[in-house]
Amino acid sequence: MGKDQETLNIAVLGAGRMGQELMRAMADNDELRLAAVWARKKSPALQQRMAEFSGAAAGEIEISNDLASVLDAADIAIDFSLPEATHKVLDAVLAAAKPLVIGVSGLDRAAVDEIEVVARTIPILYDRNMSLGIAVLDSLVRQAVASLGAGFEAEIHETHHKHKLDAPSGTALKLGASLAEARNQDFESVKRYEPAGLKRPLAPGEIGFEVSREGEVPGEHTVILYSESERLELKHAVSGRRVFADGALRAAQWLSNRPPGLYAMRDLLFQADT
Ligand SMILES: NC(=O)c1ccc[n+]([C@@H]2O[C@H](COP(=O)([O-])OP(=O)(O)OC[C@H]3O[C@@H](n4cnc5c(N)ncnc54)[C@H](OP(=O)(O)O)[C@@H]3O)[C@@H](O)[C@H]2O)c1
Repeated sequence: MGKDQETLNIAVLGAGRMGQELMRAMADNDELRLAAVWARKKSPALQQRMAEFSGAAAGEIEISNDLASVLDAADIAIDFSLPEATHKVLDAVLAAAKPLVIGVSGLDRAAVDEIEVVARTIPILYDRNMSLGIAVLDSLVRQAVASLGAGFEAEIHETHHKHKLDAPSGTALKLGASLAEARNQDFESVKRYEPAGLKRPLAPGEIGFEVSREGEVPGEHTVILYSESERLELKHAVSGRRVFADGALRAAQWLSNRPPGLYAMRDLLFQADT
């Protein structure tokens, strides 16, 4: 949104579970307008759902597999497609000079490197977890580690629904990386995860991960710091994916007035709003 505009026109890239949750969340916010949707298939059911969410006639919102024209209709894009689309999305936003919020998780190193390069030219906010609570938890973890100093072991426990394939979750790994950074450690060399559970106690400095897959749990993460005589647990739980949609929309509003650069949810919360 330009500073003088009242409505931010948003392109939703990927019309899956998260894309549709975004459309639903947008319907409750007068400052946002669903401008266009990038989808591989233009099904009548999707068109009907979009019309319900947006309050517009079904034909008024562009659903297209032509990314350039979808971006053309919007001020900013939010990508909840899948990692295989990321290169194409980055190319297109660069050509269109449109800011981009990326919520896709499971990106490999090459994709993250490409995001960093494109963010030199356009504003990009990329985060594997769009909830504000996780951004706060991440900050609390850094603060706790810095305050407690040496002599504390660290574990991260996460529970998700039984359909989730990756483990540990992207969010658990992100929290682990923050913890390691706060201790001046190389995360990859202190990370300890064994799918069947940790079979030996953690060595000093290691970060242990425990993963549970249960029912339909949308996501729980607990960071535990403990010594022989005390234990600190920092826990975050979500009750549905709406929280990620609301976070992504708040990120889009914040990002629309930023200069080029690579941002994360913690910047939205903790950077001075200049
Ligand atoms: N950052 C966060 O807070 C957060 C929260 C939840 C989920 N996520 C991540 O967000 C992503 C999407 O999650 P989801 O649950 O919405 O997945 P999903 O239901 O599988 O939806 C993904 C959508 O992307 C579309 N898509 C994939 N490749 C495409 C391409 N090349 N061109 C156009 N459309 C393409 C798919 O289209 P088709 O239907 O045609 O295949 C599908 O509609 C995942 O990476 C997930 O891990 C992140």
